[in-house]
Amino acid sequence: MTTTNIVWYDSVTPLSTHFNDVYFNSDGAIAETRYVFIEGNKLNERFLAHTQSTFTIGETGFGSGLNFLIVWQQFCHFRQKNPNHPLKRLQFISIEKYPLSADELQAIYSAVINEPDLLNLARQLEKQWPCQYCQFPDVDLNVFFADINQFSSQLISSNLLIDAWFFDGFSPAKNPSMWSAELFSALYERTAHNGTFATFTAASEVRRNLIKAGFNVRKHQGYGKKREMLIGCKG
Ligand SMILES: C[S@@+](CC[C@H](N)C(=O)[O-])C[C@H]1O[C@@H](n2cnc3c(N)ncnc32)[C@H](O)[C@@H]1O
Repeated sequence: MTTTNIVWYDSVTPLSTHFNDVYFNSDGAIAETRYVFIEGNKLNERFLAHTQSTFTIGETGFGSGLNFLIVWQQFCHFRQKNPNHPLKRLQFISIEKYPLSADELQAIYSAVINEPDLLNLARQLEKQWPCQYCQFPDVDLNVFFADINQFSSQLISSNLLIDAWFFDGFSPAKNPSMWSAELFSALYERTAHNGTFATFTAASEVRRNLIKAGFNVRKHQGYGKKREMLIGCKG
């Protein structure tokens, strides 16, 4: 496992040495994740409407784990407000080819996280990282350390069903293999009935590939200065 996956573009923006692209925007990384992935998948409403005991999220690219921490925090709030709701556990599955080291995670969290309860969750993850399977109160995390295109055949033959996808590869221009029609077809196969996705990009090639895979796709107002992003559901 390499320990030089990132360089710092500025004091709050980690840049991938493999892809020369940023893990997230320095301009409100946490707010952007909440907007794009949590609101984009309507997770608050979907948690409330869920009738099973587990809700499963799939993510392409674990990166710093910031998305995971933010949705974990959201799920804790849901559980606190709805202790008698049938939904009791969050399962978060992510596929990552170049896992960051625990030191790299720690450096990112120190630079980006300014909310004490989120930092508390970050400390819990750091203690177990790198882990393929980590168990926390209310939450299970599975990270498959693999190239997602090689992993997709394993995924297809699994019995996993994903309720919501976070499509979060680096930009399609820099990392096209995370946005192909073949990959999306495999991910579509493992999407639950009424399952949704959200992604920060609105690139036309990505939109075409999602449609080709079978997803219903909608353009949506992007975060901050970004004009558009994509959301959708299993067609
Ligand atoms: C934009 S970052 C993800 C950010 C992340 N979700 C977070 O919360 O920090 C994209 C991630 O995809 C990973 N990645 C790139 N190509 C991949 C591939 N072919 N298979 C699996 N992971 C890949 C990168 O190493 C990187 O960690």
